[in-house]
Amino acid sequence: MIQMIRISDGKATFCRRYIKTYKYMMERDLGYPIIPSFLSSFNGVMASLARVAVTAARVVAGEFTPVVNGYGTSNISVAVIAGKLYALGESDLPYEIKVTADGDLVTLGRCDFGGGGVAAGEEFLGMTAHPKVDPGTGEAFAFRYHVAAPHLTFFRIDSEGRKQADVAIRAVKTATVVHDFAVTENYAVFNEGQMVITPAEILRGRRPVRVDGGKIPRIGVIEKYARDESGMWWVDAPGVNISHAVNAWEEDGGDTVVMVVTNYTTVEMVFDRLDMGQTTLEEIRINTKTKKIRRRPLSDRVLDLAVINPAFVGKKNRYVYAPIIETPMKIVGLVKVDISLSSDDSVVGTRMYEPGCTGGEPFFVANNPAGNEDDGFLITYVYDEISQESTFLVMDAKSPNLEIVAAVKIPSRVPNGIHGFFVNEDCLSKM
Ligand SMILES: [Fe+2]
Repeated sequence: MIQMIRISDGKATFCRRYIKTYKYMMERDLGYPIIPSFLSSFNGVMASLARVAVTAARVVAGEFTPVVNGYGTSNISVAVIAGKLYALGESDLPYEIKVTADGDLVTLGRCDFGGGGVAAGEEFLGMTAHPKVDPGTGEAFAFRYHVAAPHLTFFRIDSEGRKQADVAIRAVKTATVVHDFAVTENYAVFNEGQMVITPAEILRGRRPVRVDGGKIPRIGVIEKYARDESGMWWVDAPGVNISHAVNAWEEDGGDTVVMVVTNYTTVEMVFDRLDMGQTTLEEIRINTKTKKIRRRPLSDRVLDLAVINPAFVGKKNRYVYAPIIETPMKIVGLVKVDISLSSDDSVVGTRMYEPGCTGGEPFFVANNPAGNEDDGFLITYVYDEISQESTFLVMDAKSPNLEIVAAVKIPSRVPNGIHGFFVNEDCLSKM
């Protein structure tokens, strides 16, 4: 479900809509879930096998066609790719959506971007919810991960919205959950972490996703326009299980790739108690000559869902805005981090929400595109558990206390979601 506010002509219109994925439409019409959840549907051998058997029977009977129509959700993030607006969830392809003139949100349909360049015998069934769109060229870089080999596939969508040929990354030998990646001027950077997929676990009555504590995480670097993985190289990165790649860029003439990421410090909790998981913000410097990495914490607070001024995607930037997370999984405030500082705690601004209030992911909206990097606003939803009211909050990104410049009461509760997005009127009008 997407919660949306359209601000136009001095008027704010609130709207919430389910994205009408094939899974949603099937399950809505049947009145019960048909697709087992990887996280919660496999508890006990008999129950797990029964769920798999029922789904398989529907596929065989032709009542359910996941290979043709997909089987996932579209509830992780929103992005503009080649001038069109998409809802994304990594378990399925993106769904194109449209904001209407009267502030409604409609699902237009599932999109495979022309479906080009998929190797024979492989399927294009899912795509990361975190594609990286180059603000200069309009190209989008993306990937998908699979249970079957190749377990990781990198690809590009050109500025006209046409998918280009897949680059199968066969060096990843284990089916691994890869939620995000980074892109710089010349490279794409992946983290093969410890969150793995083992379908055989279902036969034991357990969920197929788990954490392999014995696996050594690593970072892989591939040229952005590579046609195959032959030039890709990997470096071991113990302790690196990236939740989100906030930004990345190159320094020293390309000899250093700098990544700013949120990293799981308690990865073993991810599937058992996601709400108790902890992530911190850190800088990872990758020397492309010596193939070594160096890590530096940017704060000792629990932070995730961090954002930057989107004009700096793939370029060196200075400021990161990161929600402060209190367990169990409550965003209680926001910090501004200056990554140009050499300190281990580079927080330069803080906004704590009122007691009982929890926020969502913020989004940076530039005030003046030609202005300083932090000349803009941070927008988010905040829910007050005491008054049970939600507010749309606008904060000044420049001010040290991230001063609130506008707070608009929402007519109904907005539950804390995952990722947020902003599209300006000019961009919307061209869709
Ligand atoms: Fe995410």
